[in-house]
This record gives sequence, structure tokens and C-alpha cells, in this order.
Amino acid sequence: MTNQLQKKALSYDLAPTPQDPAHIRALTDEKVDLHTNTHWGRDAITNRTSRGWRVILNTNDYLGLARHPRVAIAKAAALLETGHGEAVSRVFIQDRDDAHRTFERRFAALIGAQDAVLVMSGYNANTSIVQVFARPGSPVYLDMRAHASLWEGVLCARARAIPFRHNDPADLRRKIALGGPGLVIVDSLYSTDGSVCPLIEIVEQCERGGCAIVVDETHAFGCHGHEGGGMVSALGLTDRVHFRTIGLSKAVAARGGIVAGSARNMELFRYEARPLIFSTTVLGYEIAGFNAVLDLVRDEPWRAARLHRNHARMKEDLQACGFDVAASESQILAIVTGAPDNTIAFRRHLDARGIRAAVFGPPATPPQGCLLRMSLSAMLTDDDIAATVEACRDALSALDMRGWPCVRQQDGAASGRRLRGAAS
Ligand SMILES: Cc1ncc(COP(=O)(O)O)c(C=O)c1O
Repeated sequence: MTNQLQKKALSYDLAPTPQDPAHIRALTDEKVDLHTNTHWGRDAITNRTSRGWRVILNTNDYLGLARHPRVAIAKAAALLETGHGEAVSRVFIQDRDDAHRTFERRFAALIGAQDAVLVMSGYNANTSIVQVFARPGSPVYLDMRAHASLWEGVLCARARAIPFRHNDPADLRRKIALGGPGLVIVDSLYSTDGSVCPLIEIVEQCERGGCAIVVDETHAFGCHGHEGGGMVSALGLTDRVHFRTIGLSKAVAARGGIVAGSARNMELFRYEARPLIFSTTVLGYEIAGFNAVLDLVRDEPWRAARLHRNHARMKEDLQACGFDVAASESQILAIVTGAPDNTIAFRRHLDARGIRAAVFGPPATPPQGCLLRMSLSAMLTDDDIAATVEACRDALSALDMRGWPCVRQQDGAASGRRLRGAAS
């Protein structure tokens, strides 16, 4: 049976389901084929190589901790001692001084917040922070490239999404002047191209316009600031940023999320965040893993240092070849390929050389703003970086990339439209 199912999935032979009513049939007729049998579907995002991967550039494991023995041992010991613990909603265990609460206190102290709440994922952290702190109809100002889960939060709150131009405090000021006080939302480090938010200027605009601010530190946590505490604390903004959210799926290499803020606001959050109330909390052994990671980030600062060194080298070498990766200020580089066909060709070119990067297309990017994302790790060697740069250099002529958005023209300008409005 399993074999049959696997075979079916691999051949993409997804015959209509006879028992579906007409409206489900119409919906799947319209969309399933697009996702599976067109070349810009499953094929576009599935990397294939017959020789195994030489360089992994689609990782979120920035510090190389996903397979660290100290993390595995901590989780295994907790599992053996307490099993899964209580698989219940956090509501039922939040008054106890248990592993959850101890971890929340440790995390809050690390990032310089009064309090923190552990949730199931970064996605949950983002949807619920907006759901709790934006009233229906109220203005929520989002950087155009804020993560998709933050936009989803606006829908959950039934609030009014008002986008402002990426990393543009002046545009934010104009939008607040028209829309009035509300919630401002940014990522500190953007997941599609590694650009960094001008946090000080954005916070100034929030204060001027009477807004509260949410900063998503998912990609910065662990990699920036003292003991990996993130950019808000590194910039001395802990008293001026009202809310922080952090997905633990990147440097922490796990599943979970944090919402942080004042004790009063976090207390309200605990009683109003619907994903926290109506879904099962993170399990105890997972928390043992988080703690082990925080210990390692504290004890081994060379990991973040090496990550930044790798980034500087990769960026410089790609720029020297003529790629426009100027937007990248930390560990993520976007090669903006533009049209879907370019993206697939470039991905295949890298695949054939054993280099695995991540394809980003709609809905994460505009239709003609597709890209390949390279996210770096502290574990990459100089040889890995050299092999990647060489493969990209080869692609310039092999794929005739003249005119692609990622390629700088002779005058130094990018040749086409830059990445706009991506939100993944
Ligand atoms: C900026 C940002 N925020 C939140 C999330 C969601 O985090 P998680 O995977 O923990 O749900 C992601 C994940 O891709 C992200 O890039």
C-alpha cells in the first residue's frame, strides 16, 4: 500500500477523487495541476541531484547546532525521565513553576525583556501577537517584506493592513500621518534577502506617531547581539520596542516560538492568544533541547563569528563576479532571477553541481520576482564557498544571464527590477 501511494505521488498522477462534491472538485481542478504537473509547481521547488549534495544553502541551521550531541543528549535525557510530559494547552500548566516557565524567564532575561511566553512556532507567535494587540479595523503598518505570518495575524485580528516601503522610515511616517496610531510591524533581519531593518529610525517614527512596534527577530536571534540576544537588545532598544517575536526554527534549529514584552502585556497575551489557548503546547523534552542550544550559543560565540565571516566572504566574491547582492547584510543572500523559467534553469545549474539553494516564488515573491535564496551556516568551509561562487560564475555564461535582475550591468546598476514585496 505504502509503495503504491509513494509511486502515485512521484508520478504526480493525482486522479480526481470521485466522492468529492462539485465545489471541491472545481477547486482542485483549478489548482492541483498547477502545483504538481506544471514546471512551475512541485518541480520548481524540489531539488534533485543524482550525486548527493556538496553544499547545503537552504538551511536555517545558521550555527550548525541541529545535530549537536549536547542538544540530542539533553532531549533524550528529558524524554527518558518524563516522556512527552503533558500534551495539553499551555493554559492548563501556566501557573506552575515548570520547565516552560523557567525557560520563558531565562529567555526574557537573555533578550532583555520583562517577560516572555513560549508558543508552538514562530508562525503562531506572529499571528497571535497581532490577534491580541490589534483591534478590529485598527491600522497595522507592515514593512512590505514582513513575514507572511504577520500578515496572517492582521487577518486574524480583522485589522487593517497598511504596507509601507521596505526599510523606509519616511514612508512609514507618511502612512502613520494618514492612518493614525496603531501597530507597526517589521522583521529585524529579512528572510528573503538578508536585509536589515533600520530599527532606530523605525522606532523613532513609531514614537512620533504614537504607535506600538512588533519586531520579528526570528533570523537575528542567536546570530546577533550579546549571547545571540538579537538586534533589539544589541541596539539598546529594549525599553522602546513593545513586542518581540522569535521563531526557534532558525539558529535554535527546533520547533517553537517566543513572544516577549512587558509583564502586563504578556499576561494579557497568555489569556487571549487563540493558538496558545486552543492548541497543545511545546513538549517538555523540546524545551530541554532549547536550553542546550542557549548554553551552546553562550559558550561558543565562534559560531556566530564564523557565520558572519562566511557571509562577508560569499557576498564579496559574488559581487566580484557581477551579482547584485548588495541588499544582503547578514547570512542570507538572494539571487533574484526574475521569471520562473530563469529560476528553474539556475536551480538546475546549481543542482547539477551538488549545490542546494531554496527556490522562492509566488506567493512568497511577486510573479516575476522569483529568486534563489542562499542561507549560510557557520559550518560552511572556504571550499564550499569557493565551489558556490564558481558555480554562479559559470552560470553567467552557461545560462546567458544578461538582463536578469540579479546581474549588475557594466555601470554597476542592477540590470532589472529588484526584489519587491516578498513576504516569506
Ligand atoms: C521572519 C520569520 N518569522 C517567522 C517565521 C515562522 O517561524 P516558524 O518556522 O518557527 O513557524 C519564519 C519562518 O520562515 C520567518 O522567516
